[in-house]
Amino acid sequence: MNIDFRRLSDSDADALVRFLTGERWPFHVIGEVDDATARQWVAEGRFASEENRSFWIVADGTPVGLVRLMDLADDTPMFDLRIEAAHRGSGIGAQAVTWLTRYLFTEFPEVRRVEGTTRQDNVPMRRVFLRCGYVKEAHYRDAWPAYDGTVHDTVGYAILRRDWTAGTVTLPPWDDDPID
Ligand SMILES: CC(C)(COP(=O)(O)OP(=O)(O)OC[C@H]1O[C@@H](n2cnc3c(N)ncnc32)[C@H](O)[C@@H]1OP(=O)(O)O)[C@@H](O)C(=O)NCCC(=O)NCCS
Repeated sequence: MNIDFRRLSDSDADALVRFLTGERWPFHVIGEVDDATARQWVAEGRFASEENRSFWIVADGTPVGLVRLMDLADDTPMFDLRIEAAHRGSGIGAQAVTWLTRYLFTEFPEVRRVEGTTRQDNVPMRRVFLRCGYVKEAHYRDAWPAYDGTVHDTVGYAILRRDWTAGTVTLPPWDDDPID
């Protein structure tokens, strides 16, 4: 399968709304996006603005997913990733995170780290983070209210530019509590 990434333009608005509303997103806070919400997000510049850029993930010529880069004016951007259910589990997620990490570090020289968060039970996303050299840095208990009324933990991962450059993975200093 040939995977490409194509930056969204204004003419993609309708296709983007169809993509967001076309299926359920079980690990997003809003699991079912309706047309009005999707159009509002597009109008607000969530996908394309000074601080946000988005890209179609194109598999063999067909868009199958979306990369959204956020907080691009910060030195720690974040990202969101959505792949259509029919195309999950075949390695596209890991290719997308590898691509977006390289894109951010090469396009924005001041970026020192890239961060991502997900729900604790989103096993595929957590495996993608690890496979792509990201390290777990945070565990926020009861931080993720889901649309079905349940509450989950949020986990945060990041990759450092210095690790990405050197091909290393360094861990946070977890044993640094100031206790006797
Ligand atoms: C999360 C997501 C981006 C991962 O992309 P993907 O293309 O499905 O993932 P990959 O095929 O690269 O597989 C990732 C890993 O998860 C594993 N995996 C996939 N589905 C799994 C499942 N249901 N249970 C356990 N492991 C699973 C794969 O075996 C693979 O493991 P490996 O790296 O050890 O081989 C994609 O599934 C998705 O878009 N999900 C819905 C939206 C979402 O949750 N986005 C994340 C928001 S932060």
